[in-house]
Amino acid sequence: MYIVLLGPPGSGKGTQGQMLSTKLNIPHLSTGDLFREILDNPKHELYESLQVIKEGKLVSDDVVNKVVGGSLRDPRFEDGIIFDGYPRTIAQAQALDQELESIGKAVDVVIDIHVTKEVLLGRLLGRRSCPNCKRIFHVSQGISECPDCQITLIQRPDDNEETILERFDEYQTKTAPLQEYYRQSRTNYIVIKVFESSRTADSVQQEVWDRLYGLGLVK
Ligand code: AP5
Ligand code: MG
Repeated sequence: MYIVLLGPPGSGKGTQGQMLSTKLNIPHLSTGDLFREILDNPKHELYESLQVIKEGKLVSDDVVNKVVGGSLRDPRFEDGIIFDGYPRTIAQAQALDQELESIGKAVDVVIDIHVTKEVLLGRLLGRRSCPNCKRIFHVSQGISECPDCQITLIQRPDDNEETILERFDEYQTKTAPLQEYYRQSRTNYIVIKVFESSRTADSVQQEVWDRLYGLGLVK
């Protein structure tokens, strides 16, 4: 199954993607995580072209397609992929559709997570993650070390207010048009509205699961 997680920074794409991956046993592919790994290696050929991430700007479609392209033929991904943060532009969505078509597949469902801007900011400023397994936490959980890897959690360099606001703008102008793109292509489309700050990640996951079940995509 090929799932696309759509939603602004902090909406919970990574959190929900990791949970779904465990439940469905389908790999979770976060382009943001892939890029941050490359940014840890100044000798990598794409290191310079990824510097825009530090300003909250999107990476160019060419570079994104270079990193993601080909994954579809990787045997690790033969049962599907949970895409997190990809596609992020119409050009990327078209490239993905073409790649999937070439192997006789298609995007099975888009999960679009809507969260109010005020909630997003609080989530991003308090986010911490494991540099090793990439598991996501929040300072409100009171955890400073990854329970699985026993490594101190870190804060992402792009989780500062100035960069977050730029990321919101990039989302509105370049990624939000994908909502219309997928609706027009009649792809299964689920909108999850998370407007109450009391809504837990587990309850969001339950709603995602119920909606996938309603579409006959899970049992
Ligand atoms: P990326 O890493 O994808 O960042 P993003 O889209 O800004 O999204 P985030 O990872 O910040 O948020 P999320 O939705 O995953 O939320 P999370 O689950 O962590 O991309 C980074 C950069 O790379 C981009 O800015 C761009 O430059 C570049 N890039 C990546 N892909 C690209 C592409 N395809 N094209 C071009 N450029 C690309 O949750 C956030 C926090 O909230 C956590 O602390 C979590 O614990 C908490 N939380 C989650 N759900 C809940 C809940 N229900 N209740 C309470 N807290 C919750
Ligand atoms: Mg993420």
